[in-house]
Amino acid sequence: MMIGQPRDDLYLNGEFMPLASGQISVQDRGFQFADGVYEVVRFKGSRFLWLDEHLARLERGLTALAIPGVGSRDRFTRVLPELVRRSGSGEGSIYLQVTRGPAPRDFSMPISAVPTELAYVAPQTFFTWDQVLAGTTACLMEDIRWTRCDIKAICLTAAVLGKAVAAERGASEVIWVGPDRLVREGGSCNLFVVRGREVWTHPADRHILAGVTRLRVLEIARELGVVVREEPMTAEELLVADEVFLSSTLRDLLPILRVDGRPIGRGRAGPVSLRLAERMRAAVDRELSADG
Ligand SMILES: Cc1ncc(COP(=O)(O)O)c(C=O)c1O
Repeated sequence: MMIGQPRDDLYLNGEFMPLASGQISVQDRGFQFADGVYEVVRFKGSRFLWLDEHLARLERGLTALAIPGVGSRDRFTRVLPELVRRSGSGEGSIYLQVTRGPAPRDFSMPISAVPTELAYVAPQTFFTWDQVLAGTTACLMEDIRWTRCDIKAICLTAAVLGKAVAAERGASEVIWVGPDRLVREGGSCNLFVVRGREVWTHPADRHILAGVTRLRVLEIARELGVVVREEPMTAEELLVADEVFLSSTLRDLLPILRVDGRPIGRGRAGPVSLRLAERMRAAVDRELSADG
């Protein structure tokens, strides 16, 4: 490869190319209707973090939206290692998306559209332990999303608005609160509340995305003998909790130290969050450094 030549960091419909070279039809249903699903997967070297779980969720989303992603899961399993190799990136995340494909603009599902499949590499580094200790902040907001949040659909308008509101209020993340005042999840993360020796999180129903990281948090908590309750709590209960933390692929497990400007507990990363975060980091490191 010549010096300065862009690397192939995009896979689009069967071909590898530089990200800037990717072209999608203006009639793509993803572009016109947000008619598709996506995933974000972390990698290091040739290792992917919990790829099977991400691709299983992608497949469930395709089925839920009746998008005929025939073979998407197997194809991505084959293509992603090759994409990372071609991109030359050592560590980062991969964004994958499948849409219903290009078709004349009509609400009804086209019979013959061929789904658009893409994946691209975003090189990035992940949180240091000092950043985990520094935690993050959030604000509460009415959940303005649809009622199928269990599908990782590409329509993220509500999250875009929510994150903008959070930024206006000087917070880093938004926490969605239902009409019943029950706390659901974050703008792009799951949410956990520590009350005494118990960890509470919203059950994996249609109001939240069943995060791959969330499941690991629950497993780790149980291994450590922490009582886990998959039950929602109210916004008012959250504000007086001992600890609050979030989980997501890109942030692992991160303490939330202030909500709506008010300190949670002592306003520092708490002992339960930190024990779980430590174990989570070890699990991630193990997964990303294993031979294979
Ligand atoms: C709304 C929402 N909830 C939860 C998550 C966390 O999911 P995961 O742990 O699989 O990254 C995300 C991730 O993007 C999300 O967008």
